[in-house]
Amino acid sequence: MSEVTRRIGLSLGADLCWPIAYREILQRLNLCIPWDGDHVRFEVEDLTIEPFALGQPNRFDLVVDRLTHWYHPTREWIKQAVIMDGLYVFNNPWSVQSMEKQTTYCAMMRLGLPIPPTWLVPPKAYEPSDDLAVTLERYARLFDIGAVGEQVGFPLYMKPYDGGGWRGVSRAENAEALRAAYEESGKFVMHLQKSVEGHDRFVRCVGLGPQTRAVLYDPGAPLHDRYTMDRDFVSPAEAQTLRDMTLTINAFFGWDFNSCEALRSEGRWVPIDFANPCPDSQVTSLHYHFPWLIKANIRWSIFCATTKRAMRVNLDWQPFFDACQPGMTVEERIRACGAIAKERLEAERFNEFCHTHLEHLDDVAHEFFGGVSAREAVRKKVASLYPEHEIEEFTNLFVERIERVRAEEPPHSVSILAS
Ligand SMILES: Nc1ncnc2c1ncn2[C@@H]1O[C@H](COP(=O)(O)OP(=O)(O)O)[C@@H](O)[C@H]1O
Ligand SMILES: [Mg+2]
Repeated sequence: MSEVTRRIGLSLGADLCWPIAYREILQRLNLCIPWDGDHVRFEVEDLTIEPFALGQPNRFDLVVDRLTHWYHPTREWIKQAVIMDGLYVFNNPWSVQSMEKQTTYCAMMRLGLPIPPTWLVPPKAYEPSDDLAVTLERYARLFDIGAVGEQVGFPLYMKPYDGGGWRGVSRAENAEALRAAYEESGKFVMHLQKSVEGHDRFVRCVGLGPQTRAVLYDPGAPLHDRYTMDRDFVSPAEAQTLRDMTLTINAFFGWDFNSCEALRSEGRWVPIDFANPCPDSQVTSLHYHFPWLIKANIRWSIFCATTKRAMRVNLDWQPFFDACQPGMTVEERIRACGAIAKERLEAERFNEFCHTHLEHLDDVAHEFFGGVSAREAVRKKVASLYPEHEIEEFTNLFVERIERVRAEEPPHSVSILAS
């Protein structure tokens, strides 16, 4: 058997904490996986930003990317490496580039998910361009935004059709408030979406490959308290629904890493925001859930790199559409699509791989998160975001929460690799 190396690239921006944890745990794992007649070892390297030639060879087997959605040179480098060298990347860059909230709403609506009534409206203001005036004069119809709001139903949320990070989001109780908000909305192309009122659960379900973690979310809390530490806030059947919904969305759009926001209203799960590829990965917001994310990332990246999982470059939607037949209930549709998603994400093979080759990950990660380097990683991230006089306090807070999950989820206590 010969020894081969898989190179994992980290394409990073302001990230500090998770790459430290990822690298150090991987180093401590000291993996040497027998695969296909070889012994596979791993090297992790940061991607740098520099000029590159068309056709220039790339040395990575897999890239975990945090830049594609906003930094275009890296996005183009990644696209080139996928086409020319078969690079595997979290997430499919073409899909990240083109699948806005609007498309994802349409697609999931077609599968039968209960998307709230939503309209798209032309923007209030425009960037000047040559053909703008003539185009608008000829074709733009005057409309009363208040009347559109009446059709959607109040209260409603006005939010960018390609939104993210709560940018430009407002809530309007009536037509007058909506008119005022629209006047201030500038160049955003907006959705008006009926509010899901009286919801009793707000869940953010994070998916990484076939792994998911549903977190009870509190959107009104300060950033460091939004991901709550509550457990058992849904029934096992609902947990399965959230998991299937998340995996369906992720497999449908070719996203290895995404989070899906859904609200429970009158016993029904209504997805409202699920185009979040490359979701928040920082300990300062994830705290208690941070160790899960690191382990999930390591498992999925090692699996994909070792097995040379092929990137699904072109999305193939027909099987999902075919699985949803008239007359099926929402639940039946979600189950049927979830089954396709699990197949595409190789859930079974992945579980087996983890049991065979990554059994010691839990122990190694448990030890790492109890040690000084984990504390230092937390501190670094806190220091980059908080004022000097709060660094100690918030470092302690996040470390305590990690301690809490270490106590509640000792190694091998949870079946993270759900069916
Ligand atoms: N249809 C809706 N019903 C209830 N709350 C909503 C709805 N749409 C948005 N919100 C609220 O507004 C917040 C931001 O909207 P969201 O669609 O998640 O945009 P972003 O992509 O900016 O996160 C949500 O977290 C939620 O609190
Ligand atoms: Mg959101």
